[in-house]
Amino acid sequence: MSLVRMDELLVAARYKKYAIPAFEIWDSTNIYSIATAAAKCNAPVIFQATVDEYTLMGGPEVTRHIVEKYVEKTGITAALHLDHGASLEQVEECIAAGFTSVMLDASSLPFEENIKLSAMAAQIAHRHNVSIEAELGHVGGNDEGGIQDNGKNHLTNPGEACTFVEETGIDCLAVAIGTVHGEYKGEPHIDLERLNQIANIIDQPLVLHGGSGTPRDVLQQAIQMGIAKINICTDIHKAWLNGLKQAYESLTHSLAGRFYRPGSEQLQAKVTEIIKQFQLI
Ligand code: 13P
Repeated sequence: MSLVRMDELLVAARYKKYAIPAFEIWDSTNIYSIATAAAKCNAPVIFQATVDEYTLMGGPEVTRHIVEKYVEKTGITAALHLDHGASLEQVEECIAAGFTSVMLDASSLPFEENIKLSAMAAQIAHRHNVSIEAELGHVGGNDEGGIQDNGKNHLTNPGEACTFVEETGIDCLAVAIGTVHGEYKGEPHIDLERLNQIANIIDQPLVLHGGSGTPRDVLQQAIQMGIAKINICTDIHKAWLNGLKQAYESLTHSLAGRFYRPGSEQLQAKVTEIIKQFQLI
């Protein structure tokens, strides 16, 4: 099975009210672990990488090759997506390398500039039959102080969302409703009423960044309202690191092959749990 466009997966998910997890990738063991878990669940999945992540794997083309090989080997249905693309150059380099979806993240710019850049990225993506995600409002990180106490984060304005989607021509809209990238500081406050308003206006699949640590019942309500893609990094990264810590404390360091096995096993277990949660299996 070759890689598919991300929006094909997401349109079906929104319509049938489930969500596809988009897992961050950083090396071949993590890609192998995600693909293996997805195959066991017989579920579609999205692999996504930021510029830092694909650069560490040898660039976007090597990344695409590795993902494609595991997708072929396991027979899963999957898309490969650029997460938080910061420039049109990154968008172009990932498309040239064979990614099937890209995100141009201009969410920290003023509204008009976000529209302008996202529309340019959408034109480039569509010219190459690749789907495009953009963000309105800004989902920050706990390194930016967290959504609850940080002026840099701002929630999506439902009134602007319609204009944004129409004028940019994007396929999927990432919304800011109170989630954060990374761990929450204190209780998460997720604005489901705002999500409901956006979902009533926008037909395109909606995307939630900062999925890790978000309460299960909140995610399930968000999926019922129209969230079709949920980004997950911290939760799987922590599972991987827990496995490595366990190996570090119990195994001799000359056993490289065995050393990474607990990390892979814990990563697979976490991916399986998340897929089941989002697909309501
Ligand atoms: P988490 O690390 O909170 O799961 O967020 C990941 C994300 O949104 C990547 O774009």
